[in-house]
Amino acid sequence: MLDTSFRNYKEKLLTFIISLILIFSLSSFVYSQSPGETTFIGICQACHTIGKGKLVGPDLINIQDLRPESWLIKFIKSSQSMVNSGDSDAVAIFNEYNKTIMPDQNLSDAEIKDVLSYIKQQSTGVVVTEAQPIVLSTGLTLEEAKSNEFNIGRNLFSGDQGLTNGGPACISCHNVVNDEVMSGGLLALDLTQAVTRLGVNGVHSIIATPPFPVMKAAYINHQITQDEAFYLTAFLKNADFVASLQEPATPQERFLYAGIIGGVILFGIYGGIWWNRKRKSVNDSIFKRQLKSI
Ligand code: HEC
Ligand code: HEC
Repeated sequence: MLDTSFRNYKEKLLTFIISLILIFSLSSFVYSQSPGETTFIGICQACHTIGKGKLVGPDLINIQDLRPESWLIKFIKSSQSMVNSGDSDAVAIFNEYNKTIMPDQNLSDAEIKDVLSYIKQQSTGVVVTEAQPIVLSTGLTLEEAKSNEFNIGRNLFSGDQGLTNGGPACISCHNVVNDEVMSGGLLALDLTQAVTRLGVNGVHSIIATPPFPVMKAAYINHQITQDEAFYLTAFLKNADFVASLQEPATPQERFLYAGIIGGVILFGIYGGIWWNRKRKSVNDSIFKRQLKSI
């Protein structure tokens, strides 16, 4: 008798706890993500942290106290316009970050104010200077990575090993000067010194959540896995390290071929994307007219 009532009591308690958890998770779902948070996570987070240290760009903790709002709005819209106009703060920070370009953001003043108030709201704790460690799912850290991991990364980079979710190989847009990799595309930056420029955390973050429109578009439906991001970062870190010891055979020739190959692949991709659009549009009639006039 006592025993069953005790069990009843336990069951009730359990139900109560579960309902509490449900209510809390539901309410956090309902109140999730302010517009500022959505923008920050979707765009800025690949390059900035709030209190977790440098990534590609500076830690934005307490940025509202460091710069006037009007400066921030102008800078976020187009940092390069400010650098080019000679704004001394913009030039200083651009140089401090090895002339890495923060891409222009097509955001309204109101959207930027939302992001800034999100940053302010998150600017609580203290600044952490130690970056998050980059680890493989097996627990291996980037510092422990050896030739085995570099090789996997190199094969992923060059396309010798396909990406799990089917995204394009990095080499279709990027080049790396490395004896064991053929030259890559010239559409985007040469990555030989990406790690020197951006730090391993910056490179890893860009691979895991690409912030650049063209690169983002290439992977948005073909997510690069966490482990792949690890291998690629390990490869780029090693390539950066050994680059100083290597001389490309004949750089001009390599670049020429790389450019041609990259161009062909890209035109292929764009052709595929725009094929349908172009067929039944004004372009079509212009195209036919031109054919006739030839
Ligand atoms: C591709 C990487 C990248 C993305 C995406 C990016 N930034 Fe930046 N950001 C940088 C870099 C690099 C700098 C350093 C300045 C420079 O190089 O021009 C910077 C500088 C800044 C600064 C100036 C910091 C200071 O100390 O004065 C602010 C503010 C800023 N970014 C806000 C944002 C916000 C807000 C977003 C999202 C809407 C964003 N950034 C997206 C790379 C990025
Ligand atoms: C469809 C083309 C494309 C593909 C494929 C691509 N990227 Fe990119 N990537 C870009 C563009 C564009 C940029 C922006 C910087 C620039 O203009 O070069 C960029 C920037 C980068 C940067 C920052 C470079 C710097 O120094 O600022 C890294 C690192 C990078 N990509 C790594 C990779 C890796 C690793 C892969 C393969 C998983 C890859 N990318 C695949 C187009 C691409």
